[in-house]
Amino acid sequence: MENEAKKRILSGIQPTGSFTLGNYIGAVRNWSSLQTDFDSLYMVADLHALTVRQNPAELRRHTREAAAMLLATGIDPQQSILFIQSHVPAHTQLSWILSCNTQFGDLSRMTQFKDKSAKHADNVNAGLFTYPALMAADILLYNADLVPVGADQKQHLEMTRNVAQRFNNLYSPTFNMPEPYISKTGAKVMSLQEPDKKMSKSDTNVNGFVLMTDDADTILRRFKRAVTDSDGIVRAGDDKPGVTNLMTIYGSLTGKDFAAIEKEFEGQGYGTFKEAVAQSVIDTFTPIQAEYSRILEDKEYLDGVLAEGAQKASRIAERTLRKVYKKVGLLQL
Ligand code: TRP
Repeated sequence: MENEAKKRILSGIQPTGSFTLGNYIGAVRNWSSLQTDFDSLYMVADLHALTVRQNPAELRRHTREAAAMLLATGIDPQQSILFIQSHVPAHTQLSWILSCNTQFGDLSRMTQFKDKSAKHADNVNAGLFTYPALMAADILLYNADLVPVGADQKQHLEMTRNVAQRFNNLYSPTFNMPEPYISKTGAKVMSLQEPDKKMSKSDTNVNGFVLMTDDADTILRRFKRAVTDSDGIVRAGDDKPGVTNLMTIYGSLTGKDFAAIEKEFEGQGYGTFKEAVAQSVIDTFTPIQAEYSRILEDKEYLDGVLAEGAQKASRIAERTLRKVYKKVGLLQL
């Protein structure tokens, strides 16, 4: 299935519990549509999740759930390689070598490190600091051409490119230069309560987000409570962040553009509009949820897919790792 003519794409997502509507529209949904045009690898980044304190039983459950949800959204294990990061030891092995080629000063400038160490002041661990070296290993092991990432991960991708460049100059051309992949359809979804902030499930206000596993009643309730404004007109604009966010969601799921949406709801209040947005989310998630439950219950199938994914990923990763070990001077017998 490795196709020389196709560019390779790789992305990862942390298993931190059910994905949000924002994860779906901004990232995950695009992954399945990319798999026909690209040689694609998708990874559940369980090792990255360990940089903040995890409950072991929950992490294990979340990891399986994340993989099941990716399959439910249409990632096809015949077309893509789907795997769990910790199942491929080469990730941690390469990350050590890359750590030794990454400067303390560069890592200290990472905004995510600064944010997360402020948020988890009682656990500013070395893994949180060297997180970008592990992410660089994820990408460089497979010589990915393109990496779909959100804005918050751009700096880490830039760091990956710097490390690759420095390694290539110091030793000899080894790593491909990965580029960020900005999807045409992947919109950024904001909080339903504070539309100037990104939708996040760590939001203390549960009304700010919708999870992919939420039932229809919950979804409807969340949208009914969504913050809008007082002029009652469905129109997009910087002065109307709440309504614009709802239009973005509705547009992404129905394929309608802003002009069409404005027309559709002309002369109608926010009530009708909010119900329509909620319905578009419910219609999207209902079949995915059914598939998700089915896959989660079929442990044998899911574990089989993951074992095969790990095997295929390892074959590619091992080859890169051996090359790197040799170049840096590690003795091979
Ligand atoms: N750090 C990414 C995030 O939290 C997840 C991730 C891990 C990733 N490894 C990756 C994304 C490699 C892209 C490529 O969102």
